[in-house]
Amino acid sequence: MQDLRASLFFDADGVLARTERLVLRRPIGEDVMKYIDAFGGPCPLLAREYRRNEELRADYWKGVQGEDSLYCTICAKETGEFLGYCAIERLKRQCPEIAINLLEHFQSRGLGPEAVLAFMGAFWRVAGVTPFIAKIDPQNIGSQKMFRRLGFVPWGIDTHFINDPAILEGFEEERLEELGGIPEELCSLAEEFGVEPRKLLSHVLVFRHPAHMPR
Ligand SMILES: CC(C)(COP(=O)(O)OP(=O)(O)OC[C@H]1O[C@@H](n2cnc3c(N)ncnc32)[C@H](O)[C@@H]1OP(=O)(O)O)[C@@H](O)C(=O)NCCC(=O)NCCS
Repeated sequence: MQDLRASLFFDADGVLARTERLVLRRPIGEDVMKYIDAFGGPCPLLAREYRRNEELRADYWKGVQGEDSLYCTICAKETGEFLGYCAIERLKRQCPEIAINLLEHFQSRGLGPEAVLAFMGAFWRVAGVTPFIAKIDPQNIGSQKMFRRLGFVPWGIDTHFINDPAILEGFEEERLEELGGIPEELCSLAEEFGVEPRKLLSHVLVFRHPAHMPR
């Protein structure tokens, strides 16, 4: 993983992969606001700050276009329209973590799995076949369904930005009070992941893909 850098993955036309309906290509300057729209669904606060603050936005975009991460823009093959993006934020990590965000009106049409399969295949062709992980909010049922269908399996839980146990426990208490208990779906998920249900109020789920090439 040591020598991986983004430019290794794109051809001379800046394309990472093509599928029946999609082209996955290198991010270009004019994509920036659309990326923010795409992650603004799951992360509205961050999106608001990036829209307002040019310096923050420029820093974010430098990371997206940098060599240490692999971001690619997902476009409609026929029209070139921006649909969303796929990414590995830190290429040098042992186990690559895949992220995907589609604009809301392109969700639920099977475009996400088409993009993820193409992205993983393109990554494996260059970097060798290694397992991927995906971190998913316990409430994000759509994403869990998609990654499970692609062969990802429950692997564990992880923190998200904040690791301090006292803060995490305090947050769990607050959420427990708000919710008046732990929802049934979270209890089943917690059992599947082998963790205490309340942990799912403060952690994300980790799914892992066993390494094999997509068919
Ligand atoms: C998660 C995501 C990549 C899946 O891609 P997709 O093209 O929508 O995937 P699919 O069309 O195969 O749909 C997968 C499931 O999610 C559901 N789903 C998709 N978008 C949804 C939405 N906005 N609200 C509720 N459910 C949704 C679908 O109905 C489907 O469930 P079903 O099989 O019971 O019908 C895409 O929906 C997305 O970008 N969502 C917002 C951002 C996000 O959650 N990213 C992942 C963070 S880990």
